[in-house]
Amino acid sequence: MIGRFNHVAIVVPDLAAGTALYRDALGAKVSEPMDVTEHGVTVVFVELPNTKVELLHPLGEKSPIASFLEKNPKGGIHHICFETESLAKASEKLKAAGKRVLGDGNPKIGAHGNPVLFLHPSDFNGTLVELEETGAH
Ligand code: CO
Repeated sequence: MIGRFNHVAIVVPDLAAGTALYRDALGAKVSEPMDVTEHGVTVVFVELPNTKVELLHPLGEKSPIASFLEKNPKGGIHHICFETESLAKASEKLKAAGKRVLGDGNPKIGAHGNPVLFLHPSDFNGTLVELEETGAH
């Protein structure tokens, strides 16, 4: 059901410093910051040969990651993302297995323009899991 690993998302208290760390200390290719208003985050993509790291920083008053940063002032891993061919199939299978899909259960458009769903961390060993529908490869 899940396919390729798409990204790991890390919440950072200072986006410029977080970007510089990956660009300068680790020598990675980084994108310009991008505001994703509907998710309340500003994101920088760290592009690696086989995957991505996404640096997230709260955007706006009601950012869903503001409380994460309060609890983790130095930042931390927020979620991991796997690709899947069909969110409808994935969500049906997960619900049948008693796993909780967050929100209203309907996919939202993620930072890459593809539909995404988030799964309850308590059902996945304390890890927030994002599924991104990328279609068949
Ligand atoms: Co993500």
